[in-house]
Order: sequence, then C-alpha cells, then structure tokens
Amino acid sequence: VVLKISIRPFTEGDYDSVIKLWEKVFPGAQPHNNPARDLRTRREIPPELFLVATMEGEIIGTVMAGYDGQQGWVYYLGVDPAVRRQGIGTSLMKRVEARLIGMGCRELYLQIWASKAEVQAFYESLGYFSEGRQSMGKRL
Ligand SMILES: CC(C)(COP(=O)(O)OP(=O)(O)OC[C@H]1O[C@@H](n2cnc3c(N)ncnc32)[C@H](O)[C@@H]1OP(=O)(O)O)[C@@H](O)C(=O)NCCC(=O)NCCS
Repeated sequence: VVLKISIRPFTEGDYDSVIKLWEKVFPGAQPHNNPARDLRTRREIPPELFLVATMEGEIIGTVMAGYDGQQGWVYYLGVDPAVRRQGIGTSLMKRVEARLIGMGCRELYLQIWASKAEVQAFYESLGYFSEGRQSMGKRL
C-alpha cells in the first residue's frame, strides 16, 4: 500500500482535528501542559513553523517549532499511533528543520522525558544527542 502523506502549514480549520490528535498522542496532559490552551495561545506562531501531516485528508501528525533569533525549539511532534514507524515523524522533523535553517537557525533543542527510550531512539536516528544539560522549569 502506498500511503499518500502530505505536509502543510496549520490553518484555523485544523483546530479541532489537531486537539483530537493531541489528546490521543499526548494523553494525561498536565494542567501546565494543556494542548487546547497551548494551541490557542500559540496561534501567533509563523505558519511555516507549525506543520500538520495529512493522510487522505485526515490529520495524522503535527510539529511546532519556535525560533527567537538564536535558538530553535521543537514542540508537539506527534504521530497518530496507527501510522507510526512509517517515516512520518522523520518527514515532519526534516521539514521543520529545513524551515528553521532557512530562517538562519543553527541550534535546535527539544526536551523529552528521560523515561521514554523510544523517543530518544527516534531523535538519535535524526542525529540528535543528549547534551548533559539539565532542564529546569517553573509554573507561572
Ligand atoms: C516519536 C514519534 C513522533 C515518532 O514518529 P514515527 O512517525 O513513528 O517515526 P519514524 O517512522 O519517522 O521513525 C524513524 C526512526 O526512529 C526510530 N524509532 C521510531 N520509533 C521508535 C520506537 N518506538 N522504538 C525504537 N526506535 C524508534 C527508528 O530508528 C525509526 O526508523 P525505523 O522505523 O526504520 O526503524 C512518535 O512515536 C510519537 O508521536 N510518539 C508519541 C509522542 C511523543 O513522545 N513525541 C515526542 C515528544 S517531544
């Protein structure tokens, strides 16, 4: 079976489908990590840094990135569990990396849970490595 995947910028009409996908892909979101709120507050994000992957018109993956002029960050990379291990996560990351490079970004960072060995394996397959930094956070 040849899967027809396409990647394009998020548009307003994708809002409900993206929330539905994120509820599936990022279950048990904490109060400080609330996908619906993040999507509302992050609508200002340049469209080229918020991409969706579609298959037969259905949204099956997302990636969001930010760039402050020095560092790029990746958030909300997620692929529907039904279609994982088919290169969709890789395509989303490569596309967003290319866009960040086009904006002048040379350092890209992301955070993963230390307990998620498979997510680490995924990013390692794309050349990411653990830098020995420790992440600190505060809920405001
Ligand atoms: C991480 C995630 C986005 C990967 O998406 P995907 O479309 O399945 O990834 P790909 O098919 O492009 O995988 C590329 C390579 O990464 C590695 N990889 C991916 N998933 C893996 C797993 N579960 N175990 C081990 N290696 C894995 C493999 O080397 C794979 O290549 P292969 O299939 O030829 O062996 C997806 O598993 C996901 O949405 N996870 C839940 C959400 C999440 O944790 N997101 C990251 C938070 S920052």
